[in-house]
Amino acid sequence: MQYVEARGARIPALGMGTWQLKGTACRDAVTAALDLGYRHLDTAQAYENEADVGAALAESGVARDDVFVTTKVWYEQARRDDLLQSVDASLRRLKLDHVDLLLLHWPNADVPLDETMAALNTAVDRGLTRFVGVSNFPSGMLRNALELAPLVCDQVEYHPYLHQDEVATVCRARGMAMVAYSPIAQGRVFDDATLRAIGAPHGKSGGQVALRWLIQQSGVVAIPRSSKREHLKANLDIFDFELDAAEMRTLGHLGEGRRLIDPDWAPEWD
Ligand SMILES: NC(=O)c1ccc[n+]([C@@H]2O[C@H](COP(=O)([O-])OP(=O)(O)OC[C@H]3O[C@@H](n4cnc5c(N)ncnc54)[C@H](OP(=O)(O)O)[C@@H]3O)[C@@H](O)[C@H]2O)c1
Repeated sequence: MQYVEARGARIPALGMGTWQLKGTACRDAVTAALDLGYRHLDTAQAYENEADVGAALAESGVARDDVFVTTKVWYEQARRDDLLQSVDASLRRLKLDHVDLLLLHWPNADVPLDETMAALNTAVDRGLTRFVGVSNFPSGMLRNALELAPLVCDQVEYHPYLHQDEVATVCRARGMAMVAYSPIAQGRVFDDATLRAIGAPHGKSGGQVALRWLIQQSGVVAIPRSSKREHLKANLDIFDFELDAAEMRTLGHLGEGRRLIDPDWAPEWD
């Protein structure tokens, strides 16, 4: 496994996303992932699967300290007391005494940023999380938030069809990780002729090329999701080949700028 070092945090560069996995399907997938060697799990209050993720982790036999667990506070819990109470509830569901990384899931324009960031700092002081970060913060908002809390990452949509140059610039300048969500564009990369052509001589699929492209960039972490053991295995099988500079450049120019995730409450993007 490769790691990204981000302001004291050591984050496995490939993690498992769990959005839309619930109940037995979630527990089975997390169990398979841990068995295959995944050591980074990404959940959220909004996914309604923290209890399933926690149960699979507890039953896996993998030492707690060997797994990097991220959860996210829903943006409607951005006020201080709401945030701290919601984190206590997350930990109860996860059956953990702390997570490794706690993110604010989306910015909330109705709550002062300094109140939310102070609450994240309090979560660290109380030992509820080792590190804090944000998600879906465009670059200007990220710069402001960095004045208020020692954020280790911004988790944003990032794949070959959507570039994140502005956020990446801030993350690199500040030694933060940029965590790529929907890294295989929710499955769209598998049929892409360019990605397939790049993968063929390496014996890799379009999905593996997309994931390799991400984790080969400095400071980038990818968290693909799969419900299937063979897909989880394939997504992890990206550490035995390298994309050359020309291949990296080609992938860096596929961006169409179209977002897969753009809900009503999203901020104004870069
Ligand atoms: N912070 C945020 O706001 C935010 C937003 C979105 C996502 N996320 C996080 O990022 C994670 C990943 O993003 P995502 O769930 O949107 O999508 P994704 O990981 O880009 O794609 C998941 C889709 O790809 C398929 N897939 C995965 N591996 C495959 C393989 N090897 N071969 C063929 N198909 C494959 C999965 O189906 P199968 O189950 O059939 O494999 C699923 O339909 C989420 O689970 C979540 O943890 C965060």
